[in-house]
Amino acid sequence: MSDTSREFRVIPTLTGTPPSELDVDDLPATPKELWSTWLEEALDAQVPEPIAATLATVDADGTPDARTLVLKGVDERGWAFASTASSRKGVQLADRPAAALELYWQPIARAVRARGPVELASPEEWEADLAARSPEARATVPPGQWRLWRLRPERVEFWQGSTDRRHLRIVYTRDAEGWHVEASRAAG
Ligand SMILES: Cc1cc2nc3c(=O)[nH]c(=O)nc-3n(C[C@H](O)[C@H](O)[C@H](O)COP(=O)(O)O)c2cc1C
Repeated sequence: MSDTSREFRVIPTLTGTPPSELDVDDLPATPKELWSTWLEEALDAQVPEPIAATLATVDADGTPDARTLVLKGVDERGWAFASTASSRKGVQLADRPAAALELYWQPIARAVRARGPVELASPEEWEADLAARSPEARATVPPGQWRLWRLRPERVEFWQGSTDRRHLRIVYTRDAEGWHVEASRAAG
């Protein structure tokens, strides 16, 4: 094993404190509902910047890319985020309208990830989002460039780290009939 691996092993990870135990026999029917509960709990626990998420896209060659951005809202339609049409992510989404989003809430040892197709929102929505930005932030955007997209998840995973390392995964998947949910515990 390399020196780097040895050093990395002593760096603490998963040091957050999980909130109270979840009742996996009483999970909400949709990921949106569990997301809302978890976001409230993240806010209560004062998780820093709990709506900062990693967005992964792929370019025209299929090579992945990822960056941090802020979520603009989560509702039944999906997970909204915004940027410029000419950004790398904007160009990649125009070529391949699909993405994955991931958030890690270190203080409460939780992570959430979602993947699925991505749709452009309406011009009214992205104009409203742009108007809500600070004048300084607005000034950095060339006219006509701002966009709002929505990731429409087909799979959402809620991951709860556990002190006994038997981490809990709650996975929602969507098919023609609607959402299905499964919970399992595993190391790793
Ligand atoms: C905490 C944080 C929040 C960010 N929020 C956004 C955002 O909402 N929209 C955005 O376009 N870039 C945001 N950025 C910048 C992106 O990470 C990225 O550098 C930029 O969007 C260019 O990415 P791209 O070249 O892949 O398009 C944020 C960065 C950080 C660290």
